[in-house]
Amino acid sequence: MASLSVRIEAHRSRVSPQAELILRSIRPEDGDALQDYVRRLSPQSRANRFFGPLRELPPGELARALGANERDRLTLLLTSQSASAETVVGEARVALSCVEREGEFGMSLADDWRGRGLGSILLGLIEERAAADGIETLFGDTLRSNESMIGLARARGYRLSEGLEPRTLRMRKRLAHVAPDLPCRKWNAA
Ligand SMILES: CC(C)(COP(=O)(O)OP(=O)(O)OC[C@H]1O[C@@H](n2cnc3c(N)ncnc32)[C@H](O)[C@@H]1OP(=O)(O)O)[C@@H](O)C(=O)NCCC(=O)NCCS
Repeated sequence: MASLSVRIEAHRSRVSPQAELILRSIRPEDGDALQDYVRRLSPQSRANRFFGPLRELPPGELARALGANERDRLTLLLTSQSASAETVVGEARVALSCVEREGEFGMSLADDWRGRGLGSILLGLIEERAAADGIETLFGDTLRSNESMIGLARARGYRLSEGLEPRTLRMRKRLAHVAPDLPCRKWNAA
């Protein structure tokens, strides 16, 4: 996966046309902004995203998010731009397995940015990027109680099956327009 920076067109979602939203790859200096974002999520949202009662990312998890290598691991930040500041309003992590031609995702939107179509746009962009790298299947895990993620997954054509734990479900989708070249070959050459 190449480094990403995409402007989210307001007309594609239900956000104000004045909102300046950018989806971009994380940078090494984004640690404080990402932690601040995670702390601002409601306890329910953090539980849904990280499957536990954490208040912020543990150091190892933060290091993994920041150390995404842009090839088989990607951390994306959705940011809202104003004249004076950039605020993180969403994030996603993607891990690709070149051997299996599969990718795993996890994502979240800030509580006050939900229900405007941004989750669907974010997941759609992840699907496009993964397919462009030859990934055939994308999957993620969600708590069974997470109605928003299950609704989003269903709306985007994911099939739901039993998860690895009794409290989870696995969401899985065969991607369209998959690039024919082997992603491993590209990654090894990078
Ligand atoms: C899950 C989450 C990413 C959804 O993001 P969102 O921006 O609110 O979703 P969207 O507005 O793009 O919704 C797209 C579709 O998903 C479905 N959906 C969204 N929220 C829903 C809800 N609460 N109940 C049922 N369906 C829902 C709808 O079909 C919706 O389409 P519609 O708006 O045309 O009806 C967001 O709620 C979130 O960040 N939750 C906390 C973290 C989390 O649960 N992460 C998932 C773990 S991988």
